[in-house]
Amino acid sequence: MQTKKKPEGRLAILTPGLGAVSTTFMAGVEMIRQGKSKPIGSVTQMGTARIGRRDEPNRYVKINELVPLADIKDIAFGAWDIVSEPGDVVAERSKVLTREHLNEIKPYLKTIVPKKGVHDPELVRRLEADHVKSEKTAREKIEALRQDIRDFKRDLNAKRAVTVFCASTEVYRSAALNLPPALKDFDKLIDANDPAITPTMMYAYASICEGVPFINGTPNYSVDLPAIQELARDKCVPIAGKDFKSGQTMMKTVLAPALKARMIGLNGWYSTNILGNRDGEVLDDPAAFKSKEVTKSSVLSTILEKDLYPDLYSKYAHKVSIHYYPPRGDDKEGWDNIDIFGWMGYPMQIKINFLCKDSILAAPLALDLALFGDLASRLEWKGIQEWLSFYFKSPMTKPGLEVENDLFIQQTKLKNTLRAIAGEEPITHLGLDYYGEDLPLPTAKK
Ligand SMILES: NC(=O)c1ccc[n+]([C@@H]2O[C@H](COP(=O)([O-])OP(=O)(O)OC[C@H]3O[C@@H](n4cnc5c(N)ncnc54)[C@H](O)[C@@H]3O)[C@@H](O)[C@H]2O)c1
Repeated sequence: MQTKKKPEGRLAILTPGLGAVSTTFMAGVEMIRQGKSKPIGSVTQMGTARIGRRDEPNRYVKINELVPLADIKDIAFGAWDIVSEPGDVVAERSKVLTREHLNEIKPYLKTIVPKKGVHDPELVRRLEADHVKSEKTAREKIEALRQDIRDFKRDLNAKRAVTVFCASTEVYRSAALNLPPALKDFDKLIDANDPAITPTMMYAYASICEGVPFINGTPNYSVDLPAIQELARDKCVPIAGKDFKSGQTMMKTVLAPALKARMIGLNGWYSTNILGNRDGEVLDDPAAFKSKEVTKSSVLSTILEKDLYPDLYSKYAHKVSIHYYPPRGDDKEGWDNIDIFGWMGYPMQIKINFLCKDSILAAPLALDLALFGDLASRLEWKGIQEWLSFYFKSPMTKPGLEVENDLFIQQTKLKNTLRAIAGEEPITHLGLDYYGEDLPLPTAKK
């Protein structure tokens, strides 16, 4: 296991889906490389971690100096899409970036031409696909994707690759939960060209077979399947997901822990959004929204733990909705109305109105996840990377472990993992030793 040495050679970041998030991600990386922008929102580029004691000077280290991450100048991008538009056309249409930025970045984005995607029109129903692989069976499609990955690496002159899945949200299928957990049985379904094998699963399967970490930025079922997790462990490939925690859910996983920390009760949490980009159009299909609803809804129950605090959290209502409203484009507006209660049961309310830019929030998460996925791969870590929970609405854990959704516990886990990789001590925030005999522990009193 090498922990100190900076990686050599280029890193290919491959995105199934060349849409608003991917093009904003690519545009930002290129602008940063050209010195025209700062990596705002990226923990790998701007974040720090303290190492050692608080009473020693200069203990804060930049995260990309603490652990050996790929340099963003060594990143090259490749993409697949089921629509043939190149990156500059997508960025223009997605209306995330200003005219000034578009003019600067379009020559670069023009060079990002997607390869044909694998597609199931039953699962992504609102898009007109004109750029779809002609292979007929699931196995053939997987093999074609594997060949694409090898071609990307060769053409981009990359030593390593990471897949960051940024394609449209697929229709929710509860049947995916019943897919066979053993890889050998899942393989039989692939060979039988079973319709339960979705495009997202195929991208994941192909990436893992090529030794390429797979990061799922969407709610789609893929690396959460036990059979695909088995494949990842067999092939020694890191996997992480799912669904970028970018806006409303990020705020929820900050506020809910604050309420719980102060033992404030909750009667209800009503969350709604208006969104007018292509993601919003796809999510306007109720069956696709169901996938999103599942990842957006689970966070409160795991944070609030009603069984531990029945007087505070056993009866709250939680509603989540997204409404497609074209004039708003990528400028999503999220409203939260939170009905809480305090001392002697007195009711209070909190209102949040988050006027955000969806892809601007998601892009730095994609960058961090790609760099950490590559780091995990070089450490020869395999399977579920729970330490990356910080970035996801619905984090994956080893079966049997409770999911942690509190953003600040997730951040502590992330930073302590990075300290451990760097050979440094974890930070517990106990700090009694700074006060010596003023704060002796009972056992030390004798
Ligand atoms: N923006 C955010 O804050 C955010 C947060 C969490 C998750 N997400 C998820 O990220 C994904 C991308 O979001 P976006 O705003 O870029 O959407 P988008 O619609 O702009 O881009 C998605 C792209 O995926 C393509 N696509 C669909 N099916 C495909 C397939 N099978 N293979 C290859 N390409 C395919 C579409 O043609 C489209 O170009 C969505 O699933 C969204 O829910 C976004």
